Amino acid sequence: MSSACCSNGMACFKPRLEVNSTAGKATNSVSLRRTHNFTAFGKQNLFGGSRFVSFSTFGSQCRNRAKFSPMAVGVRGKEGKPITRAESEESAKGKKIMVIGGDGYCGWATALHLSKQGYQVAIVDSLVRRLFDQQLGIDTLTPIVSIQKRIKRWNQISGKQLDLLVGDICDFDFLAEAFKSFEPEAVVHFGEQRSAPYSMIDRGRAVYTQHNNVIGTLNVLFAIKEFSPECHLVKLGTMGEYGTPNIDIEEGYITINHNGRTDTLPYPKQASSFYHLSKVHDSHNIAFTCKAWGLRATDLNQGVVYGVMTPETAMHEELINRLDYDGVFGTALNRFCVQAAVGHPLTVYGKGGQTRGYLDIRDTVQCVELAIANPANRGEFRVFNQFTEQFSVNDLAKAVTKAGEKLGLEVRAISVPNPRVEAEEHYYNAKHTKLTELGLQPHFLSDGLLDSLLNFAMKYSDRVDMARIMPAVSWKKIGVKPRTDASEVKL
Ligand SMILES: NC(=O)c1ccc[n+]([C@@H]2O[C@H](COP(=O)([O-])OP(=O)(O)OC[C@H]3O[C@@H](n4cnc5c(N)ncnc54)[C@H](O)[C@@H]3O)[C@@H](O)[C@H]2O)c1
Repeated sequence: MSSACCSNGMACFKPRLEVNSTAGKATNSVSLRRTHNFTAFGKQNLFGGSRFVSFSTFGSQCRNRAKFSPMAVGVRGKEGKPITRAESEESAKGKKIMVIGGDGYCGWATALHLSKQGYQVAIVDSLVRRLFDQQLGIDTLTPIVSIQKRIKRWNQISGKQLDLLVGDICDFDFLAEAFKSFEPEAVVHFGEQRSAPYSMIDRGRAVYTQHNNVIGTLNVLFAIKEFSPECHLVKLGTMGEYGTPNIDIEEGYITINHNGRTDTLPYPKQASSFYHLSKVHDSHNIAFTCKAWGLRATDLNQGVVYGVMTPETAMHEELINRLDYDGVFGTALNRFCVQAAVGHPLTVYGKGGQTRGYLDIRDTVQCVELAIANPANRGEFRVFNQFTEQFSVNDLAKAVTKAGEKLGLEVRAISVPNPRVEAEEHYYNAKHTKLTELGLQPHFLSDGLLDSLLNFAMKYSDRVDMARIMPAVSWKKIGVKPRTDASEVKL
């Protein structure tokens, strides 16, 4: 199989599916290879036409759409106030939103929500996340169907169209075509490799993560400048960019007095994985292009997302969202609920005092909608801290234990060696008022939510692979050799 590389002709790393074929059948033997390819990009499938995933561009579907209306962008509510729900629904009508990463956990829920609200949505996704799962031998708890089936089902149920453009945003030719054909008025960018452990498996994944995320975002910035300069970029950052400083975390900026002079500067970033570092670099590139080219952008520094259901994904089994529980992609609360459901001890890393911001996935979609409805001004780089509550890992373990016991489950938590390099007991107080000021109505973590998440996990418990639960990626033992099975390393 051949594999494609960057459109700029430079050598790059791509996660490539290498299939060992026995009598025409694919085996489970897959590997990550660094590939060099200098052919023109966009003229071939991303992974050289792998039999597992085929990539093609459906940009032509979107041609000849109504021309972009500048009136629809940059509109704030009356007298510059945040837009109300009714105004938001009114302004949503027909507004074109490109959701990059729309086949993923946050992206799928958001694409459906925006479509329901009346936005005209195009999903752009390389489907590479499904490939990561195949390569690492992991799977979502929930049985998700193909993106094409998902979209068809949504069209049938809601009567709304969702466009699909399958391709890699690191391929600028593809992205340019997507922008020219769809003409987005806002771009919501979820399309990154988003797992810190994945980025710490081996050198190849570290390089891939930074290349995919930083170059992908850079291409989005150039595409906006070139084709849709009025377009509002809503970019998913992470609270992890800030680290855990021993002072309060502000929303993006901090005013500092130094040697008698004062300035308001970007809040210091102390990322703690190659993934988090890629997000920091994204933020710098976005801030720079807002200043240099007058782009408008909102960086949503999102906390850890939990939950699986939104009103739209609950409408049909084929609209179900993914729910990761494994040691590479699973996030804290979701993982604990699945562990409790299958009788696995809750895996608290180290002392469990690690405190972070969390939010319900129903609030992720709400926050993105609020950011779109109240766009940044030209030249403005806005930063919102997108979470609703803070919890330590021990707080979460206690809450899940209590909720599990109510359902008759025997739940216990154990401390496992911490695979990460991080403070296990620390000060944490992060501001998060800007989205509330725009009208966010939070879904706080409740017994009801835990109860429904646990029941959900119990429903699909026969799909759980117990071997994938323990953490298996060590920050200190990151290797140079490619590893196809993250569970092969014991901490
Ligand atoms: N899930 C969380 O708890 C969480 C927390 C904070 C921030 N975030 C951020 O939110 C975003 C979405 O996270 P998620 O949990 O939905 O991740 P996900 O892995 O479920 O989805 C990401 C999607 O982006 C696609 N993608 C990746 N690289 C691409 C590329 N080069 N071109 C086109 N598509 C590409 C993937 O195929 C996938 O469908 C990420 O940027 C992540 O950093 C997530």
